[in-house]
Amino acid sequence: MTRSSTAITDVPSGLGFRIGIDVGGTWIKGAIISMSSGTPVGGVRQLRTPASGTVDAVADTLSRLIDELGSESLGHTDSAVGVAIPSVVQHGVALSAANMDDSWIGLDVQAYLRERLGRPVCVVNDADAAGMAETHYGVGKDKHGVVLVLTLGTGIGSALIVDGKLVPNFELGHLEIDGCKAESRASAIARENEGLSWMEYADRLQQYLSHVEFLFSPDLIILGGGISACSNEYLPHLSLRAPVIPASLENSAGVVGAALQATTS
Ligand code: BGC
Repeated sequence: MTRSSTAITDVPSGLGFRIGIDVGGTWIKGAIISMSSGTPVGGVRQLRTPASGTVDAVADTLSRLIDELGSESLGHTDSAVGVAIPSVVQHGVALSAANMDDSWIGLDVQAYLRERLGRPVCVVNDADAAGMAETHYGVGKDKHGVVLVLTLGTGIGSALIVDGKLVPNFELGHLEIDGCKAESRASAIARENEGLSWMEYADRLQQYLSHVEFLFSPDLIILGGGISACSNEYLPHLSLRAPVIPASLENSAGVVGAALQATTS
């Protein structure tokens, strides 16, 4: 299944475009990103993540997605690709795999995808990508100091950005609260699975965010993930020292941030 708002062939040619891909447990999204505005040009396409979740099957899907995006229309068939994945990524090597097959773990995914896709590839953690997108183009733009971006989805992703510089692989979804992994209690999926009311969910978030704030004293907290579209349901119930604001790029943060990392790597 694919989705696009305008025809991909409408994409203008010229410099300043990169391909951004966001690999999730259910969907793999891709777009050609204008690096000057940080916006997807020609829409975001998505293909189902292969059920096996193996790196091999995902690489096939990425290849198809890139073909569908038709980057040739930009005049850059070798355009760098940024790929965001739900893994700790150190120098291109995946050290974990959330909702993916274990074949990712320990693999130099960056080198593997470069070989498979035949073009420059930069692989980054998905929350790091979203965080960089928000602080470069979104609500975190021009914010100085310590900015914490949390993505509330299947898990909890986190990105710490200090004066515009990313501290990679922060992994705050794995903090323990009351003997449980935080993301198993305060992610968007935990709310759905447990049928929590917004007020109950806000209590969970409050407990989690208070702990995070005590540990890291951020100057600003940005909450992203699909659930940021309903932020008026839970944000007013949160009370923290730092301002807490919803992310602005919504579902395109991952693809935009992935492309951004490809540009700067
Ligand atoms: C993973 C992170 C990822 C987050 C969001 C967590 O379970 O450990 O690496 O960023 O989910 O996908």
